[in-house]
Amino acid sequence: MGPTRTTSSRRRTLLAIPLTGVIAGALSIVLMGQVGQPDAQEIPGPRGDTSYSPVVITSADFDEAVERMSAEKDEIMARQRDLLEMRYDLSDRPMAEATMSGGKPVQDGVRVRLPEGVDSWDQLNEMSAEEIREQGLFPRGFLPLPHPNHPEGGMVFPDHHIEDILEQEGRDLERFDLEFDLPEHLLPEFPPPMFLTTRPDLGDVSQGQLVTIKNFQDLFEGILNSKQLEGMRLLVTPFPQQQFNSTHDRRSLEPHQGVTCFDCHANGHTNASTHLAGDPRPQETRRRIDTPTLRGMNVQMIFGSQRAMKSAEDFTEFEQRGAYFDGDIVQAAKKGVNMLERGSQVHFMGEVQNILGFPPAPKLDPMGYLRPELATEQELAGEELFHGTAQCATCHPPPHFTDNSMHDLQVYRFHDAVEINGRLAVQEGLTKTFPLRGIKDSPTYFHDGRLLTLADTVEFFNLILELGLAEDEKEALVAYMLTL
Ligand code: HEC
Ligand code: HEC
Repeated sequence: MGPTRTTSSRRRTLLAIPLTGVIAGALSIVLMGQVGQPDAQEIPGPRGDTSYSPVVITSADFDEAVERMSAEKDEIMARQRDLLEMRYDLSDRPMAEATMSGGKPVQDGVRVRLPEGVDSWDQLNEMSAEEIREQGLFPRGFLPLPHPNHPEGGMVFPDHHIEDILEQEGRDLERFDLEFDLPEHLLPEFPPPMFLTTRPDLGDVSQGQLVTIKNFQDLFEGILNSKQLEGMRLLVTPFPQQQFNSTHDRRSLEPHQGVTCFDCHANGHTNASTHLAGDPRPQETRRRIDTPTLRGMNVQMIFGSQRAMKSAEDFTEFEQRGAYFDGDIVQAAKKGVNMLERGSQVHFMGEVQNILGFPPAPKLDPMGYLRPELATEQELAGEELFHGTAQCATCHPPPHFTDNSMHDLQVYRFHDAVEINGRLAVQEGLTKTFPLRGIKDSPTYFHDGRLLTLADTVEFFNLILELGLAEDEKEALVAYMLTL
């Protein structure tokens, strides 16, 4: 984007969006750069004043923060709930038969709400990207999802995880200023089953427990080698982090030991804990990130939705030194970053991550195609679409259903730059193609968790790839993805 292009597309206008069934005042949606170029690059977001956060924070500052932020908490969570209600149908509507690998029902149906004035997905799908953008009709639920409090950010854990860790370890992961936002029925099962590539014969090795520092020896002795046991110990050992530490700008009431890798990647999978990506600045350009599963790391080549690090070892070091402190090296030094030793500790942790297996997919053959004798007509129809007119397999090829690459889905063709509760939705750029093996176990979907169900992902791709799928075809694709 050169400084020479300064025409009307740079003009910033304020525009109110009609909202039904919501408290419009609770949302700040500002549209910038109404007409002109279809390319959101024409409307660059802001640059921040500084890349550093304040370092000197006293106990008086802490007391003031606790008082002010706990008082504001209810209002902030209510604002987030209103946003979620405006974007989605959050109801508990499980599918009749489909369950995750451990038995939790999979949620049914499209949950993203249609924009006001549009009666059906077909009606929306008949419009061009430009018409949708110009008329402001891109469904709100397809836009980036903000963090429960985007300007504040940081790690937030779901309640069931907080309770289990408190009970097992006496470590309290509650924040005084925030709580997790999405309802439990929409999240992955907890605690999730755990499969080892080295011992597939054992099935779920977690025995229905959340793996912690308290039980990992009992669970894994005699199954893992001692090097892997040490790697596992480090994955369940708390280390200081931006919100959970002993300084006066923590977000736990009491001084804190910190968090473990498995506080988010519960049992090597995910409990949907959320955070902001550490890289971009300023704050409104940082992505909300939904914890991805670590299952199937052995067959993947890039890690992180945007970072594309090349190994489990690199990502392990990066998580603990960088991501834990929001990418701020000064905060990391102040809060007591734990420098893992690369040759042994990082290596052992990486090794454990690389033996976390995908869940069984009994209907697939060695090439990742359905065995016709085991599949239903609908699943087979879904497979044909997946490889054919729906074009999914271009980026999600079998047997692991990822191309181990990144793609720019060009969602910005459908909307103007828009600010949603402190998150600025501009051009998103290249994003990792997450694998679809075991995908029914990992709601909610996309790097920020913006899509609640598999049906939402089909509706999303149907719109942005302009596929024109019929209702029965969309249903077949969902049925197919449940077999992967
Ligand atoms: C907030 C909870 C949280 C904690 C604690 C955490 N992670 Fe993550 N992890 C995430 C999120 C969110 C991402 C996605 C990052 C992105 O998309 O840029 C991620 C990504 C990863 C990835 C890349 C996965 C992929 O499919 O691309 C690996 C590997 C990983 N974490 C390992 C670790 C290790 C090792 C630790 C402990 C040192 C750890 N994580 C601690 C939330 C967490
Ligand atoms: C141009 C490449 C491309 C095509 C074609 C494509 N996808 Fe994807 N898919 C991606 C990328 C990239 C992501 C990650 C998006 C994100 O996280 O923001 C993704 C994410 C997903 C996810 C969520 C994964 C997760 O772990 O959250 C599902 C489900 C999915 N795709 C299904 C489909 C289906 C079904 C089709 C065909 C209708 C399809 N995709 C076509 C690239 C593609």
